[in-house]
Formats: sequence, C-alpha cells, structure tokens
Amino acid sequence: MKARQVDSESAHEMAERRKIYTSHFNQMALKDRKVGEVKIFDTTLRDGEQTPGIALSKEDKLRIAELLDELGVHVLEAGFPATSEGEREAVRSIVNRGLNARVCGLARANKNDIDAALSCDLDYIHVFIATSDIHLKYKLKMTREEVMERAVSTVEYAKDHGVTVEFSCEDATRTDLSFLKEMHIAVQEAGVDVINVPDTVGVIAPEAMNLLITELMKVTHVPLSVHCHDDLGLAVANSITAVLAGAKQIHVCVNGLGERAGNAALEEVAMDLLAFFGVEPLAMSKIGQVCKTVSRITGYPIPNNKAIVGNNAFSHESGIHVHGITGHASTYEAFGPELVGMSRAIVMGKHSGAHSVRDKLRELGVEVPDEYIPEIVQRIKELAESGKHVDDAELIALTDHIISRQDHEERVKLKEFAVFTGKGITPTATVTVEIDGDSNTVSQIGVGPVDAAIKALRTAVDENLLLEEYRLSAITGGSDSLAEVTVLLRDSNGTGRLYVGKGIGTDIVQTSVDATVEAINRRYSIIRKEV
Ligand code: KIV
Ligand code: ZN
Repeated sequence: MKARQVDSESAHEMAERRKIYTSHFNQMALKDRKVGEVKIFDTTLRDGEQTPGIALSKEDKLRIAELLDELGVHVLEAGFPATSEGEREAVRSIVNRGLNARVCGLARANKNDIDAALSCDLDYIHVFIATSDIHLKYKLKMTREEVMERAVSTVEYAKDHGVTVEFSCEDATRTDLSFLKEMHIAVQEAGVDVINVPDTVGVIAPEAMNLLITELMKVTHVPLSVHCHDDLGLAVANSITAVLAGAKQIHVCVNGLGERAGNAALEEVAMDLLAFFGVEPLAMSKIGQVCKTVSRITGYPIPNNKAIVGNNAFSHESGIHVHGITGHASTYEAFGPELVGMSRAIVMGKHSGAHSVRDKLRELGVEVPDEYIPEIVQRIKELAESGKHVDDAELIALTDHIISRQDHEERVKLKEFAVFTGKGITPTATVTVEIDGDSNTVSQIGVGPVDAAIKALRTAVDENLLLEEYRLSAITGGSDSLAEVTVLLRDSNGTGRLYVGKGIGTDIVQTSVDATVEAINRRYSIIRKEV
C-alpha cells in the first residue's frame, strides 16, 4: 500500500515537472505495459509529398530533412528514387548532407527500383509489394506465390548490395493473416532487417491492430514497424496500440501529411509516447517550430484546432476556462505549451469574462482600474457578436480609448445617424443630436460619407468647430481589423483651441462619427468648466 503511494506520488511529481496532466486512469491501465525504445521513421518527404497538391523542390526537401534531423527522427524516408531524375537528385543531396538520421528511399519490389535507390547512394531501402487479395486481383494481377517470390528475390537482391532493408506488405491490414505471416517468414529468411505493417487505407480499429501485431510478433524476429493512414481518424491511436503490442517503430508525417487523409502525425505520436509511456524519442521543444516551418514550405496550413500544434491548441477564450487556467494550467490543458515549443494565448471574444480581460491586459503589461473592466468586456462581446475577434493590439487600443473617454462629461449626445451613399449618388448624412437635452436634426452632403457625417455634426452643434485633422488607421491587418479614427476640431471662434476625439470600431463611418462626437464633448465640457 505504502509502496503504491510513493509510486503515484513520484508519477505525479514527474507530471508536474514536465507539466503533463493526463488521466490517472492511464497509469492504472498502462503501468505494467512498458514499451521500451520506439524509433520514429519519418515519411514526410515521401508519403507526405504524396499529399494531393504538394510538390517539393530539391531545396525544400533538403531544408525539411535538416529540420527533421534536428528534431531527432531515427529514419528519414527521403523519397521514391524510381519516380524521376529530379527525385533522385533530391534524395542524393539529402544522403550527402551527412545527417544523423538514417536516410531511406522507397522502392517497389523489382530490381529497377532497387537500382534507382542504390544510384542515390542510399544504405537503407524500404521495399514494398501489395499482399491483400483486393490488390492482387485488381492492381497487381498476380498470385500470392508470385508476390512472395518477387518479395523474396527483391529483398535478396537489395541485401546483396549490403544495404539495410525494411519490407512492407502493402495493405497488410486487409491481407489474409496466414499469408501475411508466410510473407513475414519468407522475407526474414531472405535477410530483411525491419518489417513494416502498413494500414494502407486506414481501415483497422485499435483492438484489431492489437490482435494483428500480437499475431505477427509470433513469427517476426526482426523489429516490427507500423505505418498507419488516417482515413477513419485512427492513425495515431493505431500506431500507439501497435507499440503497446510490441512494435518498435512508427512511421509518421509532420502535421499528419500523407496520401488522402494523411499518416499518423509526428507531433501527436511523439507527445503520446511521452505522455503515456515516458518515452521521449524526439527533441520535443522543437516540434512547434518544425511543424510551422513544414506547413510554410509545403503550403499546407495547420488547421487551427489541430492537436499539439494548431493555433487553438493552447488558446483559451471563455471566462470559466481562463479563470481555471489562471489558478492552475492543469485545469484546462493536457500539458504545458512550452513542452512542444508552443505558447499559450488568452483570446478575447464572446465568451471572455472580467478575469480573462484583466489577466490578458496584465500579460500585456497594462494595469487597468477595476471600474473600467465591465465596459471593456462589454465592447469585446459586442465586437465578437458582430464576428470580430479582438487581438492584443486592438485590446490595448480599445482599453486606452475607454479610459481616456471617461475624463469628460457627455453634454452632446448622438441620438440618430444615417448616411446615404453609392455610385453616382452624392453622399448625404443626417444626424440628430441632443445638446443639454435640446434636440437638433441636420442633413449635409460631402465628398464622401465620412465628410458628410462630420459636416452634419458640426452644423448641428457649432459651425465654428473646424475639422483640423482626420486620421484613420487599422490597428491590425485584415479587412475585419478594428479601425482607429482620430479627429481634431479647432474652435475658430475665440480661443482657437484644439479638441481631440478618438473612436475605435469596425465600421469606419460610424467610428468617425463617434470620434467627432467625443471631440465635440471635450469642447463642451471645457466650456462648462470655464463658466
Ligand atoms: O500506405 C502504404 O501502404 C505505403 C507503403 C508504400 C508502405 O505508403
Ligand atoms: Zn502510406
């Protein structure tokens, strides 16, 4: 009993140190299932490049290979040399780069493909041939005996050239089990070094993967590897299950790239191995940057909600969540973002509450008296309801605006405002303002809607207020960015003083009107103070 407590305490300590907060049921279920060393075989440059729409130049491939090497992948499948001379050049350049990772090339089970791979100076070749009846009948038009004979002779041919050979029965998860076992036995006799089990069409369930690997382990004495596709969303789960059943290597692609729905995502597999088994096959803190760079080079965006490396993976918006996170990150995070080189973001939106806003402002170095927080929250919610999310720069500008506006009284109130404009139409604005309770409605035309609106306001209140300066700037980029308008009015009758007003909003005309009304109110509050 006592020993167990010590165990669970130390597991807890390790989780705290690494900031990993997964379920205690994992420990209950997995504590006796040690997985040992697991190798990461990255196929971003081969299966990943087969992602529809991706074509990488030699330089792109080399850059990605270097990044993967820095990450610490054990094997790097650099390409499919038989495809073209360009592909061979790219593979050669990666081989000659002197990376720490083993560099491998793919080959079909025939001598020409092996020769193409050998011509790239590769010392690791991944040979495959399909073994499922579906593939034999509709694609290869070969018998099982012919397939086995071809696999054996190709493995022998490659081994005669002194290279490491990994062999795959393509579509293994739809291959008859006894034939699959016979294939494994036959290629081992031919001298194969590693046997990979591809779930080519992503069709196996985790329980079935457990059964398959357990069965294959009975006849396989070289390391077993798995290559899982994500057609049913189970590539990572199946890879982890295979490791639990005895597989020693996982094929992955950065960002889950790969044919159709992709392959098991490198970043997810690596994090799961660490979180569930304490196995750390890669330099975890480099993962975020590598995934982002590969996304940029391939032109394949990372979905916002992508596990581990998506923009939202460590973003918190709702007040309840932000409150929790502020107490302790474990409340709403499975692990700390720094573990994988990402960072946490508190996002302002419809679900933000006073806690999130105050914490976010503090994080941005802005201390705001409590009385302003409700209005800032209110403005963020209004903007969010109209589809606008407020980023950091916009939040600071909005806060500044709300605080600076509180230092004058509102004697002039805008009651109604309409603007009429369009192609071939003279822009016309109508405003109704109330000055100390007296209402006044005025229409004016202008060279544009903003000009018409400001003229109408000045006419309604005091024509001696001249527009001295008008400034418009987008706080951030993008067509939905918040615009900041600054209006300077000069009192031409008397003092010649300048009065400034600022507005922030998504609608430029409305924001210009708000800024003008603010400048007018500054003028009026000064008049009252002087009286
Ligand atoms: O998915 C697959 O079966 C493959 C093979 C080439 C291993 O990519
Ligand atoms: Zn594949």
